[in-house]
Amino acid sequence: MKRKLLDYLSCPSCAGSILLSSIAVSEDAEIMEGQLACESCARSFPVLRGVPRFALPEKVEADKAATAENFGWQWQHFVQSDELYADQFLGWIAPVRPEFFQGKLVLEGGCGKGRHTQLAGNWGARAVVGVDLSDAVETAFAATRRLENAHVVQADIYHLPFARVFDYAFSIGVLHHLPDPRAGFRSLASKVIAGGNISAWVYGAENNEWITRFIDPLREKFSSQIDRRALLQLSKFPTALVYLATKLVYGPLNRSPGGAGLARHLFYNDYLNAISQFGWREQHTIVFDHLVAPTSHYIRREDFEEWWRDVEAEEVKIGWHNKNSWRGFGKI
Ligand SMILES: C[S@@+](CC[C@H](N)C(=O)[O-])C[C@H]1O[C@@H](n2cnc3c(N)ncnc32)[C@H](O)[C@@H]1O
Ligand SMILES: [Zn+2]
Repeated sequence: MKRKLLDYLSCPSCAGSILLSSIAVSEDAEIMEGQLACESCARSFPVLRGVPRFALPEKVEADKAATAENFGWQWQHFVQSDELYADQFLGWIAPVRPEFFQGKLVLEGGCGKGRHTQLAGNWGARAVVGVDLSDAVETAFAATRRLENAHVVQADIYHLPFARVFDYAFSIGVLHHLPDPRAGFRSLASKVIAGGNISAWVYGAENNEWITRFIDPLREKFSSQIDRRALLQLSKFPTALVYLATKLVYGPLNRSPGGAGLARHLFYNDYLNAISQFGWREQHTIVFDHLVAPTSHYIRREDFEEWWRDVEAEEVKIGWHNKNSWRGFGKI
């Protein structure tokens, strides 16, 4: 934890100021082990292995804990990086471009292994704070600790330990895994200053009926419940189908001059074409990610629009991404 983070923290219970009450171990600019305390209510929060811990996955409600446990495992296993992450991220947060991050104070809700925290830091954010409930923070911390402007915090998106100070907040692939996605969005938006911006990307209900009908029952009752190492092996079978289809059919056809028109008629073409450039490991991560989540909501456009009205966002731009998901950008 870098000292600068103290400027943004605020007690998740009483909104009091957070002080650094003790340091046991530090390494260069990072406080690795120590204690934070609220000036007003005297609650204390440990800093463990470089990350301040405002929530522990084993101490939250059972549904949130199950989600955090599975994703915590996922992001400590799939720690790889990929040069395609930047373009993928820009697709999720469009119309935001890298220059937009320059000089901004940025909050990321559900940072996973920190791949987008890292990009935001590299794109010139004044500071970026990645928050995650799960032990994925261990990977996110390792991925971002060399960046002076990047911070990682373990906390629940519903009880964010920050004052309302952020110029921009974003959340990618997280809100639909919450028990109440809209409340999570509201909580994230509550940390953005007036005139600041927010981006969110969620699974769409439209065009995903084949998932909600056939895959979801399997995910809910089986794949998210079994031992994660068993799922790691089992998920190689659907990954092999996706890999063969994208490498032999979707990718080549979409990229060939005469084939794109034909490819448009293929099942789930936009999405499968979008992931066709990824190698085996990344595609395995994607398949595993879908199967491991105990909770997934598929959001209708009209419901997603309601979220933005709910937080009184202005200049809202909602886009249909890869014909299977919604991305939104707006001003608070
Ligand atoms: C599918 S991953 C996406 C991670 C990252 N945004 C990315 O795109 O790489 C969903 C993340 O949301 C986190 N998450 C789930 N529930 C959360 C909560 N209540 N508060 C904070 N993070 C949460 C999970 O731990 C997981 O890392
Ligand atoms: Zn307090």
